[in-house]
Amino acid sequence: MTRTSERGLSKFHRLLLDQVGHEFTASHQYFALAAWFDEHDLPELARVFYRQSLEERDHATMIVRYLIDNDVAPAIPGIGEIQTDFTGHRDLVALALRQERQVTEQFELLAKTAREEHDYTGEQFLDWFLQEQVEEVTTMSTLLAIVDRADGNLFDIETWVAREMPDTPGDDTTAPETAGPSVG
Ligand SMILES: [Fe+2]
Ligand SMILES: [Fe+2]
Repeated sequence: MTRTSERGLSKFHRLLLDQVGHEFTASHQYFALAAWFDEHDLPELARVFYRQSLEERDHATMIVRYLIDNDVAPAIPGIGEIQTDFTGHRDLVALALRQERQVTEQFELLAKTAREEHDYTGEQFLDWFLQEQVEEVTTMSTLLAIVDRADGNLFDIETWVAREMPDTPGDDTTAPETAGPSVG
């Protein structure tokens, strides 16, 4: 493994530390979206987005667990800018989809870097996240399609979300361990 960068960390480990910040930012952004849905009397969308906020937090703490287990000091980064003003419900779902696509690109760069640095355990660690990204991009792009099809009928959207997006806590036994408690 190459360890050429500052602080004696490999580029892969540096990017992983950055990813902790990206996941906490995603968590914060989802929470802001959930609060907006909540305030606009859309409890089903709020439920899904509050839960997604917790899952993003888990992603951050899974990476922290991995760093600690690999003797990398987990210097927790601050979170980035989030968006809080929206013109309507479609905006929020479109933002969530954009965010998931961006995170997918971040994981693709992580995977490429792990491979370049011959960090095989790192590469293996990323498998779960890459799969998770496929799932989350699909979920948000389906939800956006439903929002468009509902053509402004919020009851239709809420009914669909209640039926098709139930909470399934603890159903993924392959998920990496977190540092501290998880929503599971
Ligand atoms: Fe995530
Ligand atoms: Fe995500």
